[in-house]
Amino acid sequence: MDDLIMQTQKAAVVEQREDMNIVIVGHVDHGKSTIIGRLLADNHMLPEGKLEQIQEQCRRNAKPFEYAFLLDALKDEQSQGITIDTARVFFFTKKRNYIILDAPGHLEFLKNMVTGASRAEAALMVIDAQEGIMENSRRHSYLLAMLGVRQVAVLVNKMDLMEYSQKRFEEIVSEYSDFLTEINIQPRAFIPVSGAMGDNIVRHAADTMPWYEGKTVLEQLEAFQSIGNYSNLPLRMSVQDVYKFTEDHNNRRIIAGTIETGVLKVGQKVIFYPSGKSSTVKTIEAFNCDPPRQLSAGSAAGFTMTEQIYARRGDMIAAEGETPPTVSDQIRANVFWLGRSPLSTGKRYFIKLGTSKTGAKLTDVKSVLNAATLEKTKRDFIDRNEVGDCVFKLDAPIAFDCAEDNPATNRFVIVDNYEISGGGIIISSENTLGGGNIHPDNSLLAKEERMLSQRQKGTVLWFTGLSGSGKSTIGNALERRLNGAGYAVYRLDGDNLRFGLNQDCSFTPEGRRENIRRAYEVAKLFADAGVIVLCTFISPQADMRRQARSSIGEDFVEIYVKAPVEECMRRDPKGLYKKAMSGEIENFTGVNAPYEAPENPEITLDTTQISPEQSTELLMNYLQEHKILY
Ligand code: ADX
Repeated sequence: MDDLIMQTQKAAVVEQREDMNIVIVGHVDHGKSTIIGRLLADNHMLPEGKLEQIQEQCRRNAKPFEYAFLLDALKDEQSQGITIDTARVFFFTKKRNYIILDAPGHLEFLKNMVTGASRAEAALMVIDAQEGIMENSRRHSYLLAMLGVRQVAVLVNKMDLMEYSQKRFEEIVSEYSDFLTEINIQPRAFIPVSGAMGDNIVRHAADTMPWYEGKTVLEQLEAFQSIGNYSNLPLRMSVQDVYKFTEDHNNRRIIAGTIETGVLKVGQKVIFYPSGKSSTVKTIEAFNCDPPRQLSAGSAAGFTMTEQIYARRGDMIAAEGETPPTVSDQIRANVFWLGRSPLSTGKRYFIKLGTSKTGAKLTDVKSVLNAATLEKTKRDFIDRNEVGDCVFKLDAPIAFDCAEDNPATNRFVIVDNYEISGGGIIISSENTLGGGNIHPDNSLLAKEERMLSQRQKGTVLWFTGLSGSGKSTIGNALERRLNGAGYAVYRLDGDNLRFGLNQDCSFTPEGRRENIRRAYEVAKLFADAGVIVLCTFISPQADMRRQARSSIGEDFVEIYVKAPVEECMRRDPKGLYKKAMSGEIENFTGVNAPYEAPENPEITLDTTQISPEQSTELLMNYLQEHKILY
């Protein structure tokens, strides 16, 4: 949302002008903020009196003024076209609008560059003249090269502290040029600057560095070339969310996401990948204004379709007639690894590309490179700060574009243990499953597609509890109630399964495990067909219920039918407790076999407190509130 607000504000400031994203990288104390502060101040971008105000504040607090403070002070303020948030500074010149992206560390930089919030067209690399080139500076440059940022200017900062020494400047130029050439970056300029003094930022430092005749930082910014408009590339939109509107039973859906590249138009036929299903854009939705006929790259978009097809978060949308993305479950990629533990062959990770998140296994490391020394080795893992050429096998196919084709859809991040630990660029697909020519017709119908004709969501209501606790009684009552109201419902329990499919399952722990495994597998199929399945098994083993939940996913509702064993013994509807107590039945739950009560069920029904009718009522409410019935 912040992004949106920013964009709108920006648009309001200067319309119809070229935007350029510039990333500024450098070691922590090498002076990035000072340079940005100076750039704003000397380019007269500060609100009236701001500079004086901050200088005054510093004086009062007896701390020396620094241009870097300006950035902090401006963060909460938006005026005259400078807008600053935590990582971005917006400002403009006569020529165009600039967005300067500050990347505090490798990881932030990588995340920004990959998630698309901020794709840089050019980079300013800051190096402290005193400290010289650090390992980190080299890695940052490598990352820039890898991410395809080829326009780079190197700012050798703090020249004032080196007595504006031309010799020192040239040392750095020569050392760094060699490295940059090796990684295929031809720097546009090396500029000796002093952020603190304002030398060569906006003002030529003819007085302090007469030996330098090149551009100032501002002149260099203006000299960078815009690398063209993402709107000219084929349409790519990754689905962020699908909103369903079912009140009128018209099943209208709005597909929402951001247009990464290309243009989305009303009437256009769009194809969803990886499934290959297609529909036509009926309307583009808008809040508080006339709906547009088309939207282009960079816009957040929501649209409806003429034909309702099943789409979900993570899908990639392309337009018919344009180059389709590649679909594959195997990718070869250049990966920059920042994780604490190495990226290892055989280990599992998640790969996030666009809005998709897919499980993946690293299957091969072709080569490993140290990003600071550029040394290459061959081994089957990639350590922190190294770059690897490697192959991943994904759990499911994803849609993407290969390196050169579309910068917006070939970048991904790798999640290890819930943390983003690396990023990569897809170089090729190892096993293409198809692009625009996928034939989806032989794929299994997805559950959501079946739902379109129904008023319910296939769900498994899993009742667990001791024999005699009331599972069947409540299950039975709910089944009648749902059936009476016209919903498709089916009940599975020990009695109907153990007489047929599960005849061979005993009451030993293993027998029960198998009984429950088959039960939940069957229930899952029913739910997939759109049925509300009521499962009433003792299911005493907590891990089996967990397995059921993980297999069925979000459509699993655990209901604990609670009654103390003494109460169940008192009820003893089938006389089984009596038999078990007398030793006639072995392994009887609650008597000579354990029952593990659920720790976190969605619903608990205490049948010593509420009647079966009340339980049924409560469950009906739950189903309605959770949109399982509609
Ligand atoms: S479970 O433990 O494997 O989940 P399930 O719900 O299928 O059990 O079957 C329980 C029903 O089987 C009971 O309601 C009871 O009628 C009958 N039964 C027969 N022997 C046993 C036993 N040893 N323990 C529990 N229930 C038994």
